[in-house]
Amino acid sequence: MQKFETVASLKEAVAAAKAAGKSVGLVPTMGALHDGHLSLIRKAKEDNDVVVVSVFVNPIQFNNKEDLAKYPRTVEADCEKLMSVGTDMVFLPTVEEMYPEPVTETYHFGPLEEVMEGPQRPGHFSGVAVVVRRLFDIVEPRRAYFGEKDYQQLAIIRNLVEQIHYNIEIVPCPIVRADDGLALSSRNMRLSPAARAVAPAIYDTLQQAAEMAEYEDVDEVKEWVMSTLASFHEVNPDQCPDGLKFEPEYFEIVNAVTLQPIENWEDAGDDGAVGCIAVWLDGVRLIDVVKF
Ligand code: PAF
Repeated sequence: MQKFETVASLKEAVAAAKAAGKSVGLVPTMGALHDGHLSLIRKAKEDNDVVVVSVFVNPIQFNNKEDLAKYPRTVEADCEKLMSVGTDMVFLPTVEEMYPEPVTETYHFGPLEEVMEGPQRPGHFSGVAVVVRRLFDIVEPRRAYFGEKDYQQLAIIRNLVEQIHYNIEIVPCPIVRADDGLALSSRNMRLSPAARAVAPAIYDTLQQAAEMAEYEDVDEVKEWVMSTLASFHEVNPDQCPDGLKFEPEYFEIVNAVTLQPIENWEDAGDDGAVGCIAVWLDGVRLIDVVKF
C-alpha cells in the first residue's frame, strides 16, 4: 500500500496508474475505520483495478467544535486495516494540504438539505460537498463509494455530481451491523459499556417500526418510534444506570429518493420509503436507517 500526504504526489501516482490503463475507485473516509468502511473498500476492489482511500477528518463539515475535537483519530490502526483489505493507495493529507487557502465556496442542495440532518447541522452538507469535490478533483475516480447509513449524505453527493457534471459513478453500499444489530459507526467507540449494551434498541425499534408499517399509518409509526426510544429508560431502568437514556432528535419517514417527508405510505410511490433517525445516547449522536 502506497501512502501519500501531498496532493501532488497522489495525483502523480494516480496519473501513472491511469496511463497504464487502470480504473481507479475512491473511498473517502474520516478514518476510525470499522468493518463498514472495509466493506466499501472490498466492493471498490471488486469494481476497480486501483483503490484509493482518503483518511481526512474534515473540519469544515463539523458545526460543533467539541464533536470535531472528540472525533476518534486512529491512523496507525486504520493503515493496518486498509492493508488487510488490499488498499492500493491511502491519502492522509493535513488540513493545510487540503485547504491551503480559506474555503469560500458553499454548496446548496435545496429541499434535500432542508430535512433531517440539514436543519440540525447547518453548513454540514456544504462542508461535505467541498471536501468530496476536492477529492474528486484530485483523484478523478471512475467510481466513488459511500455507505447507506449516511443516507442523506449519499443523496447529497449524487446531487453534487449532477450539479458539477462529473462522470463519476456513485456506488451505494449497504449498512454493516454488529451481531446485535447496532449500525457500525466510528462514533460507537465513544459509547460507555452500558450505553453500548443498550444501543441496539435503536435497530430493534426500527425493525419493529418496519413491521408496524404493514398496518399503521405513517404518523403513528413516527410517534411510536420517538416515544419508544424516549421512554426506554423508564421501561427498562435496570439497563439504564446513572441516568443513561436515549434522546431521539428526529425520526422522519421520507421518500427514498427525494427525501421529502411523506404523509401516507402511497405517497412514496415506486421510490419507496425510508425512515431515518438521529438519537443521542451517552453524549454520542447515532444515526440509522430503515427501509419500508
Ligand atoms: O461519511 C464520511 O465519513 C464523510 O462525511 C466523508 C464522505 C468522508 C467526507 O468527509
